[in-house]
Amino acid sequence: MKTIKDMDLSGKRVFFRVDFNVPLDEHQNITDDSRIRAVLPTLEYALDHNAKLIIASHMGRPKGKVVPVLSLSPVAKRLGRLLKKEVIIAKDCIGSEIKALVNKMKRGDVVLLENLRFHSEEQKNDDAFARALAELCDVYINDAFAVSHRTNASVVAITKFVPVSGAGFLLQRELDYFKKAMADPQRPVVAIVGGAKVSSKIGALENMLRYVDKLIIGGAMANTFLKSIGYDLGKSKVEIDLIEVAASVLRKAAESGIKLYLPVDAVVASHFDARAEIKIVPMQEIPQNWMALDIGPATSLLYSQVLYDAKTIIWNGPMGAFEMDAFSRGTFAMAHSVANSYALSIVGGGDTDVAVHKSGETDRITYISTGGGAFLALLEGKTLPAVAALNA
Ligand code: 3PG
Repeated sequence: MKTIKDMDLSGKRVFFRVDFNVPLDEHQNITDDSRIRAVLPTLEYALDHNAKLIIASHMGRPKGKVVPVLSLSPVAKRLGRLLKKEVIIAKDCIGSEIKALVNKMKRGDVVLLENLRFHSEEQKNDDAFARALAELCDVYINDAFAVSHRTNASVVAITKFVPVSGAGFLLQRELDYFKKAMADPQRPVVAIVGGAKVSSKIGALENMLRYVDKLIIGGAMANTFLKSIGYDLGKSKVEIDLIEVAASVLRKAAESGIKLYLPVDAVVASHFDARAEIKIVPMQEIPQNWMALDIGPATSLLYSQVLYDAKTIIWNGPMGAFEMDAFSRGTFAMAHSVANSYALSIVGGGDTDVAVHKSGETDRITYISTGGGAFLALLEGKTLPAVAALNA
């Protein structure tokens, strides 16, 4: 795969597909700008090499309509501050006005195109839309790992119409770390899988059974596994139709000699509420009408011991409903255990990055992915369509 370092950027119109799909509050303030900061090395490299920067991203899911609250203008402001440069926000991402704007650019100018998903053609991987984007540039760089699992025009079809294409530093880094963790990892490899549902993780679990040495399960999805071996979990969330699938994961792990760990105790509450009464109980003693909402302290201790000899750790999904203080201890304890380990640690997907940031351990984790769905797709062993397009 070609990368930005293989390209001559001087004086060129360089199109950067990035993922600036950042969280906003109700006043369109950016609440976490990690995804913007993550591409600064690529953008700064291009500025150092006298390129003209045309940056494109999606924001949210406007379904082909102009939704003003999903405009990228708050991002343009923040990017301008981070780059210490003026960032011009374009009114649209294609069309004659945009072409004229781009043709007037000088070396070192930065234009941020408006939300690609204001056009329904983006998510349809439409050739005409991709060609219109491609006409804006001489060089195409994909640095949007987090959307590279989507077959969208600005990451897949566009590569057919641009003169040269390659990866930016972020995309490269994400893929390199993943390769280190999966292709030829230092063993033991420990995977930690949490989150609410077995259904959204089943592909990842089945793929991981092919290469991990130990598998730790947490979050509400652990309930379905415990149910499959006969536990009574009160009114905890269980995916009844996936009990058999969970049982088969347990069976396959045992057949392959993979050590699989399930919670031994839980923080339970009578209802799902930040102010609900809570108790810590062994898994065997969840009262009727109570529900498990976090792993308990004995489980946290057990899981930290499982990580002692790990050389590679891959973590996806929280251990409990960590957005509520009462149910956050298990996830934060896991973040501290991963940070304390001597392993190469890679975290990504869902809310796991948010949990690590909140735990204060960001700097002690080897790599935190910017991808949610894209990270999960890699865990499932899939080839990302946007990466395949760059390699074609
Ligand atoms: C993400 O936030 O995971 C990416 O930006 C992709 O967004 P999507 O799930 O709306 O395609």
